[in-house]
Amino acid sequence: MHPMLNIAVRAARKAGNLIAKNYETPDAVEASQKGSNDFVTNVDRDAERLIIEVIRKSYPQHSIVTEESGELPGEDQDVQWVIDPLDGTTNFIKRFPHFSVSIAVRIKGRTEVAVVYDPMRNELFSAVRGQGAQLNGYRLRGGSARDLDGTILATGFPFKLKQHATPFINIVGKLFTQCADFRRTGSAALDLAYVAAGRVDGYFEIGLKPWDFAAGELLVREAGGLVTDFVGGHNYLSSGNIVAGNPRVVKALLANMRDELSEALKR
Ligand code: IPD
Ligand code: CA
Ligand code: CA
Ligand code: CA
Repeated sequence: MHPMLNIAVRAARKAGNLIAKNYETPDAVEASQKGSNDFVTNVDRDAERLIIEVIRKSYPQHSIVTEESGELPGEDQDVQWVIDPLDGTTNFIKRFPHFSVSIAVRIKGRTEVAVVYDPMRNELFSAVRGQGAQLNGYRLRGGSARDLDGTILATGFPFKLKQHATPFINIVGKLFTQCADFRRTGSAALDLAYVAAGRVDGYFEIGLKPWDFAAGELLVREAGGLVTDFVGGHNYLSSGNIVAGNPRVVKALLANMRDELSEALKR
């Protein structure tokens, strides 16, 4: 196994076990508000601390960026771990059992290793660049849809960015007449993992952060899928406006989004 994948898996499982344990004791969970509709708990922070500890033990020189601690530069700026310790905090707080730990390793800006772990189902999605994507050791292949007919699409509502509500609803409205149905489950990392697994055929979301998609993006690509921004480019890396699916589904999604995009969403 890739040595960094080994560490990423160890860190994700440790954090996932902590999250699952705390899910059983809701009285020990303390939530606070970071912004409008945006929450964090002591469990997000404790899981993050555990992950950083595991990485630092093996790779003290690597750089780390996480949702709750921000940038932790190391001596080695070329290797960066991108971490979301708990993706789906709102689900966790509401006791909706769908959330994950997301860990990616980027070397010179290119993602090499990815892990997304769902502790409630004990599902570990992983990928190494050029070596395919796996779920609990089994090879993943994305969906094989040729167009939107019969597809299940996942998305995330822009609940922190309500200025995008109108174009978002218009896009959903247009797609809904062509796909079979939508899912909105509340963990972007799992949405991308589910695209990789073919559990949903396509996915798009506005304004994600790097830790939301860093691991999931590699999972999708290693399962034969495509990840782009809303106009087919690579700007999602900075804008967080992301589309994923097999190449034919992405093409169909982009074609439907085209006329509904505000200027801000073309980036
Ligand atoms: C959120 C989840 C959610 C997505 C949001 C993210 P968090 O991450 O991934 O599905 O819609 O945009 O911020 O805050 O729970 O780690
Ligand atoms: Ca958050
Ligand atoms: Ca997240
Ligand atoms: Ca998070």
